Amino acid sequence: MRCSLLPLLVALKLLLLPDQTNTQEVHLEDYKYGHPENNEFCSWRCLHFTLQWPAGFCLSLDTPPLCQIPQTVNDWTIHGLWPLWAEGRCDCWPMFQSDVEELEAQLEEHWPSFLKTKSSFQFWRAEWQKHGACAACVEGMNSPLRYFQISLKLRQKFDIQKLLEDAGITPSCDRPYKVREVHQVLAPHLGDKHEIQCVQMEDKEAWFQVKVLLSRNLTIGCDHPGDAAGAPEPGSGPTWRPSHGHPCPPDVPFYYLPIDHQQPLQPCSCCSPINN
Ligand SMILES: *[C@@H]1O[C@H](CO)[C@@H](O)[C@H](O)[C@H]1NC(C)=O
Repeated sequence: MRCSLLPLLVALKLLLLPDQTNTQEVHLEDYKYGHPENNEFCSWRCLHFTLQWPAGFCLSLDTPPLCQIPQTVNDWTIHGLWPLWAEGRCDCWPMFQSDVEELEAQLEEHWPSFLKTKSSFQFWRAEWQKHGACAACVEGMNSPLRYFQISLKLRQKFDIQKLLEDAGITPSCDRPYKVREVHQVLAPHLGDKHEIQCVQMEDKEAWFQVKVLLSRNLTIGCDHPGDAAGAPEPGSGPTWRPSHGHPCPPDVPFYYLPIDHQQPLQPCSCCSPINN
């Protein structure tokens, strides 16, 4: 509604108050995106930076057969950078391919779409419109280019695969891991409040996502964990919503599955517990 009504209201205001230059200016100023003092949706204090593990992510989809993992992707990728604003969408701010032209190669590598039906650009645009437009309340993220630049920097900062590898935690079909051992490795780098998310496959748990809690200024952790409770779920359409995602249960060992580009849904085809 905001998308369609706001320009109309601005136009009406301009028509009705032709002499009041100040009012016009103020109103046009309000209409500019991301004015923290005027937009209620700018009151958020925390964000989630969410990274996904491609092998697990495919299993989390409502429609797993739509999943594909590009040959070039062998690492954790970005799902999104989400201000914890639970009240609905923020401003309506369109995004065009030219906005992120200079980042395209990096985004393709670190923020690809895994859906056959969705191009990477469509994924980025959906993330921007749903979450980026809220993040734009912060000066460093107040354009699509800046929002994606910051996200890529965060991805660089949180090199999960390397942290795990250095601790001997590598993708495996046979060896499940415990939440506690993974937390121990990641907490010094991602903060105590990071969340490890799993998806259930039959009687087993597969790791598919990590959510890093950040403050508005992008430092690790956030003092208002209550805000996180009302966090919007990821996604911009039903196919993006992980169907069975949940915090990995502390008492059940989970699998950090290898990526199989040929058969993304059966990364352990010899003895796969997954049947599709
Ligand atoms: C970032 O924000 C947090 C929480 O508001 C604050 O404690 C911290 O000092 C800030 N850090 C910087 C570098 O501004």
